[in-house]
Amino acid sequence: MLNIVILAAGLGKRMQSDLPKVLHPLGGRPMLAHVLDNARQLQPDRIVVVIGHGADTVRAAFEGQDDIQFVIQHPQQGTGHAVQQAAPLLDDAADSATLVLYGDVPLVQPDTMRRLLDARQGGMAVLTEVLDNPSGYGRIVRDQQDRVLRIVEHKDATNEERAIKEVNTGILAAPTARLKQWLNRLSNDNAQSEYYLTDVVAFSVNDKVEVHAAHPAASWETLGVNSRVQQAQLERIWQAEQARRLLEQGVTLADPARFDLRGSLSCGRDVVIDVGCVFEGQVQLGDGVKIGPHCVIRDATIAAGARIEAFSHIQEARVGDDARVGPYARLRPGADIGAQAHVGNFVEIKKSRLGQGCKANHLAYIGDAQVGARVNIGAGTITCNYDGVNKYSTIIEDDAFIGSDTQLVAPVTVGQGATLGAGTTLTRDAPAGQLTLSRPPQKSIPGWKRPTKK
Ligand code: UD1
Ligand code: CA
Repeated sequence: MLNIVILAAGLGKRMQSDLPKVLHPLGGRPMLAHVLDNARQLQPDRIVVVIGHGADTVRAAFEGQDDIQFVIQHPQQGTGHAVQQAAPLLDDAADSATLVLYGDVPLVQPDTMRRLLDARQGGMAVLTEVLDNPSGYGRIVRDQQDRVLRIVEHKDATNEERAIKEVNTGILAAPTARLKQWLNRLSNDNAQSEYYLTDVVAFSVNDKVEVHAAHPAASWETLGVNSRVQQAQLERIWQAEQARRLLEQGVTLADPARFDLRGSLSCGRDVVIDVGCVFEGQVQLGDGVKIGPHCVIRDATIAAGARIEAFSHIQEARVGDDARVGPYARLRPGADIGAQAHVGNFVEIKKSRLGQGCKANHLAYIGDAQVGARVNIGAGTITCNYDGVNKYSTIIEDDAFIGSDTQLVAPVTVGQGATLGAGTTLTRDAPAGQLTLSRPPQKSIPGWKRPTKK
């Protein structure tokens, strides 16, 4: 049995924000969402989140995630007091353990959590670290045999204790039934008049339950966020870590320091990503995909061999094999670009399918359209899909040629192999294989003079 308690009641005053601290994003997702995701990797039986400041907002942000139980801590009287609020919800079967995490320490990795739980050996374990500057942290006091004796908070520590460089990261694991007993014994007779969770370490030693220490695999895992400065620093650390993982998987990043992933990115072999790109949500890039500089790609699938050129914006869209998109293209939700198709600069596509080998190379708006294979869409083509109230669709069949500056007033169909003359405003269906054009005949007026200023 594993219980996980996440402490998230604190105010986060230094963030200077109306948003509860644990909802501030890291890599595009609330810090607490990272903690929950990592916690879930351990397949715990219970997850209890202790909330207080902004409780309703925090709860609402995780609406529908039924594996989480929330408890309110009000007022906030310390980390021990916080865990006390969760205690009634913790399963305390004989072999049950409880892992305590912080909502504002978002990057503790599942492997580190597992190591901490293993280190317990049935007893208790604290996640500690040796820091050059331990100021502010609780210190790990050990005996002659190097056994953990207790944790002393910085504010309560003697000068001698303050010289200790091994600090408490705040994360610990304990046998649940014992933990509940120890929580009942906490007092707030200390420098901050708070109920310190850290005091359970001394109780454990007293009760002959051994206390072990484990350490995070990387020191960034235990960095907490108390201010915007720390948030920004941790964001860069996390982005660098994500970039490193991609590089190790064989992705080329022109500059790992100019790469932002706010979600998840899966890449095939030999993917190349130029500088300044932002990936959001769930993005899949097939083998050999090349992404030019400064693209924003969100919840999209780009198939093998496709190239996205500079400054393109793609959201909830699909790009087929070997297609070419951009520079300066915009694919909006529901855009589905066929294999080998080309979508060029200042072309916007929404809720439309472009068949294989289509070309829309310049300045066009294609919305609510079904476009067949090998259709050529000239510059300035617009699907007039909206009459101010309703949306209508445009169908363009295979091998049609849409001349430049054409308006397709939907609902309308262009038949297979049809050609539309430049400048056509198409209000009725264009028959297959024919030239259709709506264009006043050209005339020239001989002897006409430009007006002159009076
Ligand atoms: C705590 C530890 C300290 C450790 C440090 C690591 C205690 C007594 N001290 O100190 O040994 O070195 O973390 O960062 O545990 N919280 C609540 N309710 C409360 C108080 C805190 O939910 O009443 C939450 C906060 O939102 C935060 C976490 O617990 O997520 C830690 O609280 P914080 O005040 O930052 O702890 P420190 O005093 O820094
Ligand atoms: Ca803190």
